[in-house]
Amino acid sequence: MANTIKKIAVLTSGGDSPGMNAAIRSVVRTCAYHSIECIGIYRGYEGMIEGDFLEMDARSVKGIINKGGTILKSARSKEFRTKEGREKAHTQLVKAGVDAFVVIGGDGSFTGAMVFNSEFNFPVMGIPGTIDNDIVGTSHTLGYDTALNTVVEAIDKIRDTASSHNRLFFVEVMGRDVGHIALNAGVGAGAEEILIPEEDLGLDRLLESLRRSKASGKSSSIVVVAEGDKIGKNVFELKDYVEENMSEYEVRVSVLGHMQRGGSPSCFDRVLASRMGVRAVEGLLNGESNLMVGLKNDVMTTTPFNQSVKGKMPINKELLRVSDIMTV
Ligand code: F6P
Repeated sequence: MANTIKKIAVLTSGGDSPGMNAAIRSVVRTCAYHSIECIGIYRGYEGMIEGDFLEMDARSVKGIINKGGTILKSARSKEFRTKEGREKAHTQLVKAGVDAFVVIGGDGSFTGAMVFNSEFNFPVMGIPGTIDNDIVGTSHTLGYDTALNTVVEAIDKIRDTASSHNRLFFVEVMGRDVGHIALNAGVGAGAEEILIPEEDLGLDRLLESLRRSKASGKSSSIVVVAEGDKIGKNVFELKDYVEENMSEYEVRVSVLGHMQRGGSPSCFDRVLASRMGVRAVEGLLNGESNLMVGLKNDVMTTTPFNQSVKGKMPINKELLRVSDIMTV
């Protein structure tokens, strides 16, 4: 089919993640490579509704591959969830001569793109950009690898002071309602316990495990808690509970928060972003649409939006077993 796409827009949407700028760079440069015009859309769907656009060329994206965050800014748009909002956005795109767009974001952003495509038959491709790694259809979402390294580095630092004072630290990490960051960074940082929403360890078993660690000679401990953990208490209540039931430990809490979303992207994320940008743009030029690009066994593939937005990437059971063994 002869390609009718002459101008492609790119936007970042939802929670930002390291690597988004590398993906913007790849989309813009792949357009330039194919002599296709490219438009940047500021602030996600909010900017699309307002027509907050920027002409971009290969030079517009120089020096950003190593920058965290997103030069196009990001936002979560309530108005885009309305038909009127999407109609305004469509009018803006048509007025600007845009034929298709690439959205870099999470499952919420893809749901919006899917609805928009169904209403206007407007070609869209998605790049999974979120630190949570919770999207079906890719082994790695953009920013996840960088976030893991950020968390491991932070826990290594916390361990220095925990061991100096023989303390137990609860370290809360992001991930919304999945435990991928907690489990992988917890194993990587040698945490004594990891609490994730996918596995209900229970308070009694937590105390038992901490007592066993103490009895085996561990003078300090790190417990990594996923923010979506369902043990029934938030990380500060956990601290109080353990202090009340385990006099052996002084307990402290460290909530890592939004630092996990920042920082210069890892080489892995920069390369992943570059590959995803090429695949998304060339998919549009080949007539594809309504697909999320993803990595499967190190091969760039696509998954229909209506599958990638369903459910969450399941926790790796083999890694869960490794984690149990490592805390012997
Ligand atoms: O989805 C990415 C994420 O960082 C989650 O891990 C976290 O729960 C959420 O975004 C925080 O949202 P906000 O940016 O609105 O504070």
